[in-house]
Amino acid sequence: MIPQSFIQDLLNRVDIVDVVGRYVQLKKGGANFMGLCPFHNEKSPSFTVSPTKQFYHCFGCGAHGTAISFLIEYSGLGFVEAVKDLAQGVGMTVPDNDDKIPPAQRAEHQAKSMALSDAMTRASDFFRQQLRSAPPAVAYLKGRGLTGEVAAKFGLGYSPDEWDSLRKVFPDYEVSALVEAGLVIDKSDDDGAHRKRYDRFRDRIMFPIRNTKGQVIGFGGRVMDGGEPKYLNSPETPLFQKGSELYGLFEARQAIREAGYALVTEGYMDVVALSQLGFPQAVATLGTACTPIHVQKLLRQTDCVIFSFDGDSAGRRAARRALDACLIHASDNKVIKFLFLPTEHDPDSYVREMGAEAFEQQIKDAMPLSQFLLKEVTGDNDLRTPEGRARVQFEAKPMLQALPASSLRLQIVRSLAQITQSMPNEIESLFELSNPVAPARRPPPPRSKRMAPVGLERQIVRLLVAHPVLAAELDDEALNAIAGFAPDQAEMLRQLVELSRGMGEQASFATLVEHLREGGSDFDTLIAEIAAETESDLDVVRQEMAGAVRQTRIRMVDEEMQRLANAGLRDEDSRSRYRELTQQKERLKRQSDAAAG
Ligand code: CTP
Ligand code: MN
Repeated sequence: MIPQSFIQDLLNRVDIVDVVGRYVQLKKGGANFMGLCPFHNEKSPSFTVSPTKQFYHCFGCGAHGTAISFLIEYSGLGFVEAVKDLAQGVGMTVPDNDDKIPPAQRAEHQAKSMALSDAMTRASDFFRQQLRSAPPAVAYLKGRGLTGEVAAKFGLGYSPDEWDSLRKVFPDYEVSALVEAGLVIDKSDDDGAHRKRYDRFRDRIMFPIRNTKGQVIGFGGRVMDGGEPKYLNSPETPLFQKGSELYGLFEARQAIREAGYALVTEGYMDVVALSQLGFPQAVATLGTACTPIHVQKLLRQTDCVIFSFDGDSAGRRAARRALDACLIHASDNKVIKFLFLPTEHDPDSYVREMGAEAFEQQIKDAMPLSQFLLKEVTGDNDLRTPEGRARVQFEAKPMLQALPASSLRLQIVRSLAQITQSMPNEIESLFELSNPVAPARRPPPPRSKRMAPVGLERQIVRLLVAHPVLAAELDDEALNAIAGFAPDQAEMLRQLVELSRGMGEQASFATLVEHLREGGSDFDTLIAEIAAETESDLDVVRQEMAGAVRQTRIRMVDEEMQRLANAGLRDEDSRSRYRELTQQKERLKRQSDAAAG
């Protein structure tokens, strides 16, 4: 048994759009992605993938499910294999012991990541505030040509030149969250007995690193003189993985959409300076090689990614790593280009010296992926000799194997054939380039039954399945009202509320569906309906929920009034109860009118 908490974490990490996108060509269409359904034959797309719901649904054949179900249905993997496959893609390891994580431990786990995130926010606020009272730091930023405005946009700060300045923000300086967040370092004595704790970042310009939700998950800190190391970065923590985060992505998202491309640089300073100098669509890897996860993240924002590399040998090596990271994501509808700056330049220095227009021109002239690939494999091999040409093919083989079958790959194969004096089909068979593994065709899942018009109770249950976070918000009185009114749904409701509350903040439609994998047919029909719905804003849903709960109450009041009336309202007790109910009902109606108006 894989613990449910692991499945939950996994579904929070993977993006179904990427998972499905590996096998099905998806195009953005409104809030969703659309494509040709891989589960039945069709000419026009009726297969949708919702990033918000993390769910796919086919309007043609009714197939639907989570990222896990997709892999199971598409490639015929078993549940455990599918989970392993997904986990591997996001760097998670499936726990192989059978014991489930006890709820108490899970709660502790969640509390921990909250504590880390809270610590990072507080530290970031502190550094920002310290910058104001640190003239040398302000002077350093000014000296690098940065305005206060751009410093504010990126939340730049300053860590004071003290061993424990964070004590001011964290009076309990000894809490474990501080070391887990990478904000302090614990140093033990030689005998290992005595532990001394001190701030990791001292006397540095602080660059907060944010995730795509805008939460601070790490820091880069730059020295202001020639000290070493020039940049000090947060260590990997449960919040922060360098291989999947990009500096500046949160700040650049809007600009990337407007510019139509993302510009990937190598440095923190490049991102901040470029933002100020007219290129707010820039992001940077965090002092690490570019990974396929980085590329995937960027291609989720835009169809065009342009890498800019410094004109030094480190830059060349980085470019090659980036090329490798791009291969599995290169497809016909994506544009990936590489630009190499003159020696001794990075984007920041280039724009300052040559101007924005010159840099714009560099971006326009950037080298397409195909050309860079061919250049890399050719290297300095002697194309006049069979050995040289064979070597080129040898270099190219793993790269072409990494490329998905596409027109682009075919084009590259042709060019390579020409360079190496071969035929394209010779290369294809030599490199074992086959078409993508045909999906294990399975009979399409049964088309979901149309539902009879939904009753109020059912509407409530359905809202809770679609938005499990709402279950945690229901108070007991509301729960009793619904359960008392709808005994048929009471069991479902109880199960739902228990599951959703157990999932805490991570509760989502997709995780709930995985929890209910073996569940009853009642839920299956609901799930199919929800998969087909267009999504609405959580606030709207919340109002809808409140309205539905109010309606339940009104109906219960009505019922009791009816009973009293039928009994004839013979004694004063029943008459006063009747009056009370009348007032209650009016109150509820007023509330519901107010909500509607
Ligand atoms: N880097 C790092 N640790 C170092 C040096 C560099 O993590 N000791 C990473 C940082 O992410 C840095 C990037 O590599 O932004 C590029 O380094 P470099 O080109 O040396 O710095 P610049 O970004 O040009 O920074 P600056 O202009 O401030 O010198
Ligand atoms: Mn620089």
